[in-house]
Amino acid sequence: MTTAAERAAELRRQLEQANHRYYVLDDPEIPDAEYDRLFSELQKLEAEHPALKTPDSPTQRVGGAPSPAFAPVRHRQPMLSLRKADDEAALHDFDRRVREVLLKGAVDYIAEPKLDGLAVSLIYERGVLVQGATRGDGETGEDITQNLRTIRSLPLRIREAGGERREAIPALLEVRGEVYLPLAGFQKMVRDAEAKGEKPPVNPRNAAAGSLRQLESVITARRPLAFYAYAVGVSEGWTQPSRHRDMLEQLKRWGFPVSELIEAVQGADGCQRYFEAMGTKRASLPFDIDGVVFKLDDLAGREELGSVSREPRWAVAYKFPAEEAVTVLENVEFQIGRTGAVTPVARLKPVFVGGANVSNATLHNMDEVQRKDVRIGDTVVVRRAGDVIPEVKEVVLALRPADARIVELPSACPVCGGAIAREEGEAIARCTNGLSCRAQLHGALIHFVSRKAIDIDGLGEKLLALVIDELEVRTPADIYLKLNTENLAALERMGEKSAQNLVNAIAASRNTTFGRFLFALGIPVVGETTARDLAQAFGTLEALLAAAEADLATEHAEKKKERFPLLQAVPDVGPTVAASIAHFFAEPRNRDVIAQLVRATDEGGAGIHWPAPKAAAEGVLTGKTFVITGTLPGMSREEASALIEANGGKVTGSVSAKTDYLLAGEAAGSKLAKAEKLGVPVLDLAALKDLLAPAQAAS
Ligand code: IVH
Repeated sequence: MTTAAERAAELRRQLEQANHRYYVLDDPEIPDAEYDRLFSELQKLEAEHPALKTPDSPTQRVGGAPSPAFAPVRHRQPMLSLRKADDEAALHDFDRRVREVLLKGAVDYIAEPKLDGLAVSLIYERGVLVQGATRGDGETGEDITQNLRTIRSLPLRIREAGGERREAIPALLEVRGEVYLPLAGFQKMVRDAEAKGEKPPVNPRNAAAGSLRQLESVITARRPLAFYAYAVGVSEGWTQPSRHRDMLEQLKRWGFPVSELIEAVQGADGCQRYFEAMGTKRASLPFDIDGVVFKLDDLAGREELGSVSREPRWAVAYKFPAEEAVTVLENVEFQIGRTGAVTPVARLKPVFVGGANVSNATLHNMDEVQRKDVRIGDTVVVRRAGDVIPEVKEVVLALRPADARIVELPSACPVCGGAIAREEGEAIARCTNGLSCRAQLHGALIHFVSRKAIDIDGLGEKLLALVIDELEVRTPADIYLKLNTENLAALERMGEKSAQNLVNAIAASRNTTFGRFLFALGIPVVGETTARDLAQAFGTLEALLAAAEADLATEHAEKKKERFPLLQAVPDVGPTVAASIAHFFAEPRNRDVIAQLVRATDEGGAGIHWPAPKAAAEGVLTGKTFVITGTLPGMSREEASALIEANGGKVTGSVSAKTDYLLAGEAAGSKLAKAEKLGVPVLDLAALKDLLAPAQAAS
C-alpha cells in the first residue's frame, strides 16, 4: 500500500521533473493534460492532509496568501555589484590589472550575457528552497520567497543527479542569479495593459521588478518570469570546485537553468570577440541583455584579487552603448520611396547613440508624426538599436519651445512637384507621378536590378542615378533599350572594360524566371514569395493579366472575401495584396513598360523571357510537403528543392502540422526543433534518396 505521504512525494517528483524538462531544458516530456492531472491529484491530497503541504511542493508555484510586507533579509555574504567598462581600452585596463596581481600571461575568463533583470539570492537547506531575497542595497534585501516560488524554471528543490554523478546535496547552498522577463512575456503584458486601458510597463526590467514586488503572489504567478543562475554564494557541507565553469556545470546538474550563451574565453582579445559576437546576436535573443560580464574562471585567483568598494576586481561588466539619446529635431524633410511613399525624415542635431553619430531618423509616416506629436524644434528621444534604422521614439514635452512648428505633409512632391495623395484610412501618402518622378524611378530601378529580382550585377545606385541623368533611362525597359558599351564607357569613372561587363550582365539578365520578373516589377506589397506564388499559380503573364483584369470588376463587392477572387486564391494573397496587384496591372503606364520588357529584341523590345511553365511533376513524392533546413552535404537547398519537385513533392518555407517531412542538414536550428516538437519525420539527404529509390530504379 502506498501511503498518502509517499504518493504526494512521488507526485511532487514527477511534477518537478516535468517542470524541469519544460522550463529549464525546453524539452517537454509529458503532455500538458497529464501535468494538469497530476497537479490536481497533488492539490487534492494536500487539501485532505494539510500536514503534507511542503514548501517545495509544485502547488506553491501558483501563489499563496498575500504577504503583509516583505521582511528584510540580511545577506550572509554581501551581494556585490560589478565595475563597468564602456570601451575596449577599459576592458584592457581590467585585464592588465588581473594579470599584474596574478602574475600571469594570459588569463581564462568566463563570458556571460548580462541579463537585464533583477539579481536574487536563493537559500537551499538540505536541498529545499527555504528563502529567496532581492539584492536590495547589497547588504540587506527583501524576502520575496513566495513570489520566487511561482517562477517555473527556478527549482524548489535541488535535483539529485543519478548514476555515476551522484553528489551529496550541500547542507546549505546559496544560489545567485537573475530573474528576468522574456520579451514575449513583456509584449503580452504591454498588450494586456493597453487592452485594460492601464499604463503599460516601460521595459522588461521594470515589468519583472514590478511582478516580483507584488504583495499577492497569485499575480506574480501569472507573469511569465524566468530565471538564470550565475553564481554560488555561501555554502556548507560541500567542497566548491576550483573553477567557475565547473561550478556552473554543477548548477546545471542540480537542475538550475544556466545560460547556453556562456563561454570560456582567453585574455582581453577573447573578451572583445565575445562582446562583438553578442552584440550581433543580441537582437535575435528572446530576452533583453544590456551587455556582457567577464569573470575570472579560477576561483582561488578571485581571493587574491579581492574587491574594492563593493566591486570585485575579478569581474567586469562590458555594457553595450546606450541605444537612446536626447537631441533637438531641427527640421523634417520628406523622402520619396520607389512606390511613391512619402516618408517624413527627422533632421537632428547630431548625437552619439548606439555606437554611431546620428543626424537623421525616420518618422515612418504622418500618422506616427501625429501620434507622437512631433514638432520642429522639439527635444526628442532618438533610438538606434543594432542595425535598425534610427527612429524618433518620443518627444520630451517639458522641453518644447514656444515657437515649435507643426509638421505638415507637403501637397506637392518635393522631388517632381507631382500631387501627393493620401487615401482615406491609409497611413501612407504617395506621390502620384509614378516613374515620371525621378525619386520613384531611381528607387524602382534599384529594386528592378537587385539580386533577387532581375539581377544585374554591377549596376549600383550611383550608376543608376547617372544613367537616369545622362542617358535618359526613364523605365526599367530603357536599361535594355538605351544602354550600350559606347555610351556607358563615356560615363564618368567607367572604362571600356566595365562598360562591356555591364552590357554582358544586362544581356544575361534577359533570361530569367516568371517569379523574378514579377518581383522585379515592384508591385507595392508584393514580396519575393508572393511573386513566386503568383508565377506558380498562373503559369503565364497572359493568364495573370487576364485574372487581374477580371477581378477588377469585383473590387466593390460587399464582403472582402468576394473581392478579387482569382487573385485571392493564391496562397497568402489577401484583399489588400490582391487590390494592389489588380491596380498595378490596370495602370496603362505599367502595362506599357511590361509590354516593352517582354517584347522580343528583334521587334524592338527588351527581350526578357523565361521558361514555359512545367506541368507539376508526378512521382513518389506527390502530395508530400517538405521543408528544408541546414546545410546539406554536397547539394544546395535549391538543388534539393528541384529534386523534390521533380518527384512530385512540394517545398514550403516553414514547419507546421501539415509538413510531411523535414529535410535537415548540418547546423539545423529552430526548424528542426519545431519539427521534433510536432512529430514531423526528419530526413537527412541519404534518407531522402532512399525514399526516391523506387523512382530512380524505374527510370
Ligand atoms: S555577477 C560580483 N553575472 O548585474 C558579481 N551579474 O552589477 C555580481 N547581472 O545586479 C554579479 N547578469 O543583477 C553577474 N551573468 C551575470 C549577470 C549579472 C546580470 C546583474 C546583476 C547585478 C548586476 C551587477
